[in-house]
Amino acid sequence: MKKRVYIKTFGCQMNENDTEKIYILLSDEYEATSNPEEADLILINTCSVREKPQHKVYSEAGRYKPLKKKNPDLIIGITGCVAQQEGENIIKKLPYVDIVLGTQGFYFIKEALETFKKTKKPVVFTELKPDFKPPLILKDDKNSVFTDRKVTAFVTIMQGCDNFCSYCIVPYVRGKEISRPPEDILKEVEALVKMGVREVTLLGQNVNSYGLKEKGYPDFAELLEMVSQIEGLWRIRFTTSHPKDLSEKLIKVMAENPKVCKHIHLPLQAGSNKILKKMNRKYTKEDYLEKIRKLRTAIPEIGITTDIIVGFPGETEEDFKETVEMLEKVRYQEIFSFKYSDRPFTLAQKLNNKIPEEVKERRLKIIHETQAKITKEIYESYVGKEVEVLVEDYSAKNKEKLMGRTTTNIIVNFNTPRLDLKGALVKVLITEAGKHSLKGEYLKTLKI
Ligand code: SAH
Ligand code: SF4
Ligand code: F3S
Repeated sequence: MKKRVYIKTFGCQMNENDTEKIYILLSDEYEATSNPEEADLILINTCSVREKPQHKVYSEAGRYKPLKKKNPDLIIGITGCVAQQEGENIIKKLPYVDIVLGTQGFYFIKEALETFKKTKKPVVFTELKPDFKPPLILKDDKNSVFTDRKVTAFVTIMQGCDNFCSYCIVPYVRGKEISRPPEDILKEVEALVKMGVREVTLLGQNVNSYGLKEKGYPDFAELLEMVSQIEGLWRIRFTTSHPKDLSEKLIKVMAENPKVCKHIHLPLQAGSNKILKKMNRKYTKEDYLEKIRKLRTAIPEIGITTDIIVGFPGETEEDFKETVEMLEKVRYQEIFSFKYSDRPFTLAQKLNNKIPEEVKERRLKIIHETQAKITKEIYESYVGKEVEVLVEDYSAKNKEKLMGRTTTNIIVNFNTPRLDLKGALVKVLITEAGKHSLKGEYLKTLKI
C-alpha cells in the first residue's frame, strides 16, 4: 500500500504549480490525502511575499506537531519561499521539522526523504543556482494523484525574477530569472491536454521578458503562438505581465489569436510617479496609461486587473490620491490590494518615513470602496449579454449549477438542464451580477 502525503499550499499560482510537481515526484511512493491526521508525510509549501503569510507558516506547522506523538514516523517538511528565506533557522525555531527545501530544492524531495530516513537528521537544501535547469516533469495517468480531471492547469514557463522592485522579496527567494526551454513547455502542455486540460495559464514573475536572455529562444509573443498550435487546447492565459515590458507584438497576438484569452493582469502598484520611481518599477503613470490605451484600442472587450500597494514608505496623501485616480481612470475589472509590508533583504525596508499601520488601513479601505463600485458597474454591464464559458466544475456553493470563466476571466455560475458539461465550452446568458461573480442561464454547447 502506498503511503500518504498531505500538502498545504500558501502563496501564488507558481507555488500551486510547484505543489503539483511535488505530488508527481512523490507519486510512486505516496498518494495524496486531504486529511493531515492520516498522512505519513506533511509538507507546507510557503510564501514570504508579505509578513502575514510568513507568520502563517509557524502557526500551520504548530498544528501538525502533536501528530508526531501519535505517529512517530510522520515526516514534516517545509518547502517554498519561506524555506528558501529561512533555511536552517526553521529547524532552530521548529525542531520537529525534518526537511527544509527551497524553491529549487523541492525538485530533490525524493533524495531528501531518502537521506532523512537513513540519517534521521534534518535535511536542509536551499542552494539557489543562477544556471539551474528545472527538470521536465510530465503529468500522466499513472502519476496523477487526484482522480478528478482538471479542465485548467498552470504551466510555469520561467523561474525567478531580475527586476528587484524595491519592496519585493521574490528575486531573493526565487533567484535569477530563468526561462524554460520552449520544447519543455510544449511537452508539458501537450501532456496536460492529453489528460483532458483545455485551458493553460503560463506562469512567470514577468512573462513579458520570457526568452530574452537566451539565444535561439522565442520571445513571449512567439511562445504564445507556438503553444496555441497544440490541438485540443482551447484557451491560453498568462500571468504576470510587467508593464515596462509589455510589447506591441504581444498586444497584437492577444488581439488576433483566438485561443489567447482577452484578459491581462498588469500590476500598477502605485499611481504616483515619485512612488513608482522609489519602487524601481521603471515606468511612469503616463507610460502605463499609454499601454492601457493600446490594449483597449486593439482589444476593446479586454478585462484588465491589477495589484496595488498602499502605504509604501514616504507615500503622502497626495501620492495616495493619485493611486485612487488611476483606479478611476483605468477602470479595472478587479484589483488585488495590499498594505506595504517590510521584507528582509529589500531596499524599501531600509527607507525612512514608514507609514503608520492605521494610515495604511484607511488607505486600503478607500481603495476597496473605490474599486467595489467600479467592479460592480463593469459586472452589471454584462447583464443581458451572451458570453462563452469554459466549464470547470460544479458551482462551489450549489452542485445543481455549473461554473466556469469568461475569456475576460470573470467567474460565471449558471443554471443548466445538463450537468455533464465539465470541460465543454458553452454559451451562457448573463442574468445577474454578483460581487465576485456573474450568474446566468445555459444557452447552448459550442464545443465538447
Ligand atoms: N511578479 C509579479 C507578482 C509579485 S508578488 C509582479 O511583478 O506583479 C504579487 C504582488 O504582491 C505584487 O504585485 C505586489 O502588489 C505585492 N507585494 C509584493 N511585495 C510586497 C510587499 N513587500 N508589501 C506589500 N505587497 C507586496
Ligand atoms: Fe517582485 Fe517586481 Fe519581480 Fe514582480 S517584477 S516578482 S514585484 S521584483
Ligand atoms: Fe509568495 Fe513565493 Fe509566490 S513569496 S507570491 S510563493 S513567489
